[in-house]
Amino acid sequence: MNQQIVLGDLVLSPPLAMAPMVGLSHSALRTLVLELGGVGLLFTEMLSVKRLPSESELSPFLMRSPEERPLFYQLVVGRDQEVLPAVERLHKLDAQGIDLNLGCPAPKLKQLGAGCALRSDVDAVRRLVRELRRATSLPLSAKIRLGRNLDEVALLEFCRMLEGEGLDLLTVHGRLDGEKFCRRPHWDWIGKVKAGLGIPVIANGGIFTVQDARACLEQSGADGLMIGRGAACKPWIFAEIARELYGVVQPSAAPDPAQVYFRFIELLHERFRPERRLGRLKQFTHLFGIGFPFGHHLAIAIQNCTTMGEAEQQAELLLERIVG
Ligand SMILES: Cc1cc2nc3c(=O)[nH]c(=O)nc-3n(C[C@H](O)[C@H](O)[C@H](O)COP(=O)(O)O)c2cc1C
Repeated sequence: MNQQIVLGDLVLSPPLAMAPMVGLSHSALRTLVLELGGVGLLFTEMLSVKRLPSESELSPFLMRSPEERPLFYQLVVGRDQEVLPAVERLHKLDAQGIDLNLGCPAPKLKQLGAGCALRSDVDAVRRLVRELRRATSLPLSAKIRLGRNLDEVALLEFCRMLEGEGLDLLTVHGRLDGEKFCRRPHWDWIGKVKAGLGIPVIANGGIFTVQDARACLEQSGADGLMIGRGAACKPWIFAEIARELYGVVQPSAAPDPAQVYFRFIELLHERFRPERRLGRLKQFTHLFGIGFPFGHHLAIAIQNCTTMGEAEQQAELLLERIVG
């Protein structure tokens, strides 16, 4: 098993990444996961190339502490949108890498011709990756799904094109464009990509436990793993996988889930303006609650709160009972 991914001077060790997720992959969750250990690569949520050049560094999208590294900024690029000003901005922001979103099937992105809609125009993707490659010497990665249907020839041709244009790393979410998260991911299909490429491949989709991580690595032969929702369900999942599969000794054994939850609240206070906190707490709690038998009670209670103070009171009342 690969112990690390090396991209020029950058070493990702252990090769475990926290996924880009709108509303979740922000400074607070990235910091929480880093503190708990085991994560080797962080991503921002997808950032619009149009807005990025003028976005404030204090915005929830760009807010970042110096400890949050290595951090790849994910770009979402629509049809005919300019990318160079966004790349220049990322150089100033001390990005460790740039990721291109070629996998998101959200209708809003489809309208823009971005995400997996961009992928359907292979020549446009080729031009874009070529332009990005010329514009930066930072590691360049992309994130894809398997495509519209399971077509090995088309999938490999597309991925080899990306590699040929200078991509350094590819993440494959093992689902088709239209497949819902409740469907089992096709980890074996990630293996077909891995076998056909020379660059490192990270496998993503449906990893919530150490057993999932082991099975995904066995079926895909991938160089590393990316975890999305599992990072909010169990922010210590990276530490568990790092310990069990990569032999990395973590600072703490099993963390207290209530303490983890309150640390997340503390980080929301530290990193975001008051009006930005509650929505992000609700989104996080929706997933965090899934990890516990009566966790939905917490998620519903927090969902109904109108202030952070109220949410903290509800958490004080319910958490010990639910996670204890
Ligand atoms: C709330 C949410 C927001 C997401 N936002 C993004 C995004 O900004 N960019 C992206 O490439 N994928 C995004 N995704 C997809 C995840 O990165 C990941 O591919 C997907 O959740 C499957 O991994 P998982 O099963 O570990 O969650 C998002 C997923 C969720 C649940």
